[in-house]
Amino acid sequence: MVETARVDLQREFKAPEARANPIPVYAKLRKLGPVLRSADLFGEGFVLPRYEEVVRVLKDPRFANDRRNVPGGSSLDRWWMPAIMRMLISSMVLKDPPDHRRLRNLVQKAFTPVMVENLNGRVEQITEDLLDAAARKPVVDLMEDFALPLPLTVIAEMLGVPQSDRIPFRALIAKVLDSSAVTPISFIRNYPNMLRLNSFLRKLVKLRREQPGDDLVTALVQAEEGGDRLSEDELISMVFLLLFAGHETTVNLIGNGVLELVRHPEQLQKLREQPDLIDSAIEEMLRFTNPVGIVAPRFAKEDVEIAGVPIPKGSALTLLIASANLDETAFPHADELDITRSPNRHVSFGYGIHYCLGAPLARLEARVAIPALLRRFPRLDLAVPAEKLRWRPHIGLRGLEALPLSVSLAGSAAERSAA
Ligand code: HEM
Repeated sequence: MVETARVDLQREFKAPEARANPIPVYAKLRKLGPVLRSADLFGEGFVLPRYEEVVRVLKDPRFANDRRNVPGGSSLDRWWMPAIMRMLISSMVLKDPPDHRRLRNLVQKAFTPVMVENLNGRVEQITEDLLDAAARKPVVDLMEDFALPLPLTVIAEMLGVPQSDRIPFRALIAKVLDSSAVTPISFIRNYPNMLRLNSFLRKLVKLRREQPGDDLVTALVQAEEGGDRLSEDELISMVFLLLFAGHETTVNLIGNGVLELVRHPEQLQKLREQPDLIDSAIEEMLRFTNPVGIVAPRFAKEDVEIAGVPIPKGSALTLLIASANLDETAFPHADELDITRSPNRHVSFGYGIHYCLGAPLARLEARVAIPALLRRFPRLDLAVPAEKLRWRPHIGLRGLEALPLSVSLAGSAAERSAA
């Protein structure tokens, strides 16, 4: 019997210091071993903190995302869940082949790199509008004023939400997807919003069936693969998955990425001097700031061995992609931010068949947003001491509640007061 250490992930990441800087916690977990034991939602399970094992499991078909495909496993679906939540549970990220392949092929058609590249002009326009409004403020909350509204506006437009509905739609989505709403009380309070979102999305699908447009919902309504189509429920489930998977993740990439640039002035300066580094800078922000910390749980379909540790069939595995991204064996000087890092085989978008469908969109938004922000504000300074920044209490998604920046157009606050 191989000895494996036991960890309590909730406890490890509960302390404010761990949320502000999870790097030492991940280092400790990796040091404990390649396979750790932990109790989670599904009972006794395993945690993988190192790069090699994380990648190996992500590409191994002996692990399922759909718990029903595991001996003795049941669905996560519960009678009391609002319809919209059931939709998420039945979405393709929690499915295995062949269901997963069928759904992914249908959505991929509506989500091609060309379709995403065509959005470039609109993303630029939305970015400039948000920066115009932000530039009128002495202190900008990068989250509220920029990182949050950008992906939300883009996805609302992509989906074909009519102009007149966009503001209430954005407000509704922000409430439903607020990841701090994870306590039972806030869940109950949020219930009516989930119902409202469900009926909003159904109306949107009906509208786009009757009045097709040049948008994603129309493309999904029309998507057909070998005579196959998405059912109404599958369609709603897909749209909700796109909203859920694509919203806070990109918000956190922009927020965490800008914070790290401000905290690493030499890297920020390098990027200002060599704007061509933006693509590798974004990859490094994805690796180093880890907007998404864990992927959906994987379940062993049969008895398996990982790094010499027997994993009985049915076991749930938590794959710490954030920790994998900070693994020294895969990334030299892993705990340093280096915007020129190459190669950079991070797993921030996952790996294998569930590799992030929205990766081209997330990259596009960051590639437009961050350089535009730097061009607009030749000086960016934290407007509060770094220790005062508050992080959202979510183990899987790493993001700030707020990021107050003083955005003097030229010269820092210190330089101005010295002058
Ligand atoms: C920085 C931004 C983003 C990050 C870090 C991210 C990360 C991820 C990760 C790690 C997975 C794999 C989940 C797993 O294997 O269990 C994933 C899947 C997915 N992502 Fe993203 N994502 C981002 C943005 C987006 C956007 C903008 C969209 C769409 C609008 C999107 C849509 C999806 C979908 C649909 C899946 C499921 C794919 C499948 O199951 O085949 N993501 N994402």
